[in-house]
Amino acid sequence: MRILMVCLGNICRSPLAEGILKSKLNANFEVDSAGTAAYHVGNPPDKRSIAVAQQFGIDISQQRARQFKKDDFNSFDLIIVMDQNNYNDVVELATPAQRRKVHLLRENNEIPDPYYGDASAFEAVFHLIDTACETLVKKYCNG
Ligand code: 4NP
Repeated sequence: MRILMVCLGNICRSPLAEGILKSKLNANFEVDSAGTAAYHVGNPPDKRSIAVAQQFGIDISQQRARQFKKDDFNSFDLIIVMDQNNYNDVVELATPAQRRKVHLLRENNEIPDPYYGDASAFEAVFHLIDTACETLVKKYCNG
């Protein structure tokens, strides 16, 4: 199964989501991440995301940002978005059938954007993503 984690910039939330989800799954699963915006394409994750992941034993430093593209609907089984804006931006590119692949990481809730926050905002986001990924694994990955 192939799972794509999506946020706006692909430097704060979705790199964490990629690293955290990978840490819970075996090699039968492929996990990647992307951003709906192109601002940070080619950049490593935000230093604060790298730091909080490191704190919990996950190395995301080698990831590089890329933009979400229509063809991702063909490459991935599940497209997991962090907030409602991400959902709207992704679904806009989808056919009706492809829309069914798109889900919020937290059902009826969001992973808030920590970009303008401090280290504690990044730690809070880490835990929100970690808890939501546990649920995702149980729901879709026979965890
Ligand atoms: P992300 O956070 O979507 O979690 O990667 C953001 C990163 C950059 C910007 C906004 C959100 N930005 O406006 O540059």
